[in-house]
Amino acid sequence: MNQIDNIMKKLTLEEKVSLCSGIGLWQTKDIEDKRIPAIWMADGSNGIRIMKPVHNQRKQDTSEFLQVTDLTQNSPTITKQYEAVCYPSGAALASTWNMELIESMGAMLGDECNFRKVNILLAPGINIKRSPLGGRGYEYYSEDPYLTGKTAEAFIKGVQSQGVGTSIKHFAANNAETLRINMSSDVDERALREIYLAPFELAIKNAKPWTVMSSYNKVNGVQMAENRRLLTDILRDEWNFDGVVVSDWGGIKDRVQALKAGNDLDMPENRRNNKSIQEAVENGTLDESVLDVSVRRILEMIFKAKAQERFKDSIDWESHREIAKKVAEDSIILLKNENNLLPITKEKYKKVAVIGAFATEPRYQGGGCTLVNPTRISNPYDEICRLAGNDIKITYAKGYEINNRINDQLLTEAVEKAGEADAAVIFAGLWVAYDREGFDRKTLDIDSSHIRLIQEICKIQKRVIVVLNNGDAVTMDPWINGAGAVVEQFLVGETVGEAVADILFGIVNPSGKLPVSFPKRLEDTSAYPLFPGECNHHIYGESIFVGYRYYEKKKIDTLFPFGFGLSYTEFAYSNLKLDKTVMNGIQKLTVQVTVANTGSCKGKEVVQLYVSDKESRLLRPIKELKKFEKIELEQGESKTVTFELSYRDFAYYDPEAEDWVVEDGIFDIHIGKSCEDIVLTASVEMKDAKKKFRYLYLDSQHARVFENTVSKKMYLDFLVEKGVLTKDNVDAMVPLLKGNYMGIYNVITSLLGGDITKEEMQEKLDEINQVCTAKSKAESCF
Ligand code: BGC
Repeated sequence: MNQIDNIMKKLTLEEKVSLCSGIGLWQTKDIEDKRIPAIWMADGSNGIRIMKPVHNQRKQDTSEFLQVTDLTQNSPTITKQYEAVCYPSGAALASTWNMELIESMGAMLGDECNFRKVNILLAPGINIKRSPLGGRGYEYYSEDPYLTGKTAEAFIKGVQSQGVGTSIKHFAANNAETLRINMSSDVDERALREIYLAPFELAIKNAKPWTVMSSYNKVNGVQMAENRRLLTDILRDEWNFDGVVVSDWGGIKDRVQALKAGNDLDMPENRRNNKSIQEAVENGTLDESVLDVSVRRILEMIFKAKAQERFKDSIDWESHREIAKKVAEDSIILLKNENNLLPITKEKYKKVAVIGAFATEPRYQGGGCTLVNPTRISNPYDEICRLAGNDIKITYAKGYEINNRINDQLLTEAVEKAGEADAAVIFAGLWVAYDREGFDRKTLDIDSSHIRLIQEICKIQKRVIVVLNNGDAVTMDPWINGAGAVVEQFLVGETVGEAVADILFGIVNPSGKLPVSFPKRLEDTSAYPLFPGECNHHIYGESIFVGYRYYEKKKIDTLFPFGFGLSYTEFAYSNLKLDKTVMNGIQKLTVQVTVANTGSCKGKEVVQLYVSDKESRLLRPIKELKKFEKIELEQGESKTVTFELSYRDFAYYDPEAEDWVVEDGIFDIHIGKSCEDIVLTASVEMKDAKKKFRYLYLDSQHARVFENTVSKKMYLDFLVEKGVLTKDNVDAMVPLLKGNYMGIYNVITSLLGGDITKEEMQEKLDEINQVCTAKSKAESCF
């Protein structure tokens, strides 16, 4: 008998119940005389958020949880939190497309958890960016499920390599902040599987997070904490997740239903909810064995955390900051660079005007539960001055108030300064009020005072470089034509100053790529006008056509496409080769492509592979990202990149077959610099992809029965046995039945006069469904 069996045997009902919720805000329940210790949890996605005082205290002051972000400053003094490195936001992280780097950042976070004596980091937040209006866009990764899933996988592996657990969140379809506690995300099954669950599935299967956090919202009318289908049938039975499901903070409405659905832990402490579990066991409405399953999982998590604990008493913040800086530099995206306005060099410019309050008071993180009390924030203005040295004169004007209030005097001064210089670098974007948990944006414009500033400066200055400071996509219509260069920094954390300045001066060659599309107008976005929803329903009417999948299908031009980002060097692609192989009995397609750095400096490129299904029974996107790799090349160097594609990379989710389906036919393999800039394409033919059986119902048409040879035979034998058809006429009847539009039961009873009861027919269909589903499980490929 192991340690947990032993403890389980000795626990009273009350003790078991008490383990199902925490103590205070961040701690699990300990039971001293049963030798059950407590473990600690802390946010967050881009740095550790721990409120003081936390340790050696059984209970925290809960008002700390309710602290409000000070919206008058970009760098609020977060005195109630311990300091921690503020790493790049999720949006920036995903812009790196650099999985190795993300894993090292995860390891740094894990190490900080050990220093702060935290066992589980409540991250990563990975919900799909259904609309750029979503208030937590700065925290989440991408509009694409594959990029999101891979980024989460790397993050989790990094953190957990330090003996610290993670909590992948928010499961599932929590893609808006508006009414997040009450609203139902009404999503069709294909979109749910292919877009919203897919990144969770990938990261959970590949990186095995210790916990999954259920989200606040409902999915198709069922509260997520009570959603047995998602928390148990899919998460555990299909994906083999064996950790703990923890509620989002205060997210459980019916504790007993939540426990039955598979939501093990209720956070934070909620004694009333515990009491309802106890009452339900006592009055027989909850089987104690259900409670036992969750208690066992919670104990396994606690003892695993304790066994792996590597708590430490000192930390080298600077080495952590160094990784934060590397990630920041890899994430910054060069969106436009006409006439090589960038990088800034002394050969090009003698005098540069730095304009905008964000240059001295930088935007570097979003608000909400990701808020970090940084160790040392750098600001772009100081770093620009440092790199300019004595060679380039730098001037500065504030340009606008941080809170977007119009100030004509600041505007006039800025225009004057910009006019006197050889070039103007304008820091613009969104003030902190717009990148916040609990709120969605209403517009995609940047702050109005910034738009006016850029427009006025563009009238008198030909060389305008705009540095954008915001957490998710913005529109640029009113000013983009006047700006020669645009750099996007998606809230890159506390090293913002060094990272932005290094990119502007070419110390670092930009290599970030957009993890989302930048639309021309809000009206062009896929969730418009349904986002965020009304009457407690968020209707996902665009289905699987999210982000670039939508723009491509609808032939809508974007401002900047998904996957896009410029470099100070050039890359050339050649030699695309496809090769079908069998590895360990599984068929794979190996894809190779050679990339050369043909420009004038060292640089990094993200090689992107997209797959297109040329023809399909169900609707499919024009193409979908299936692989990518970031490589670094010296000037003149070339490298061959190899990808391996397997069954799932070609499949769609067929809700009728309740499975992933690959159809026979031609698939295009595209290699691109972005989803729009495809440089090489080759085709592969899929043969003998086993047809997934589609369930038969009383009102299915006969064509469906005859799709499968086994169901056809079983069904016709039954009709002959029942005397509806005879051995002699059965073959001749098949084409007639196949062409009829009515449901099978009605055809048999009315047109053919068969005397079969509904129950008999249903029984037969159940048998056929069972036999044929079992037979169609095997996967084949090329
Ligand atoms: C957020 C979670 C967070 C939790 C604890 C909730 O409001 O949605 O992401 O982990 O609070 O701070």
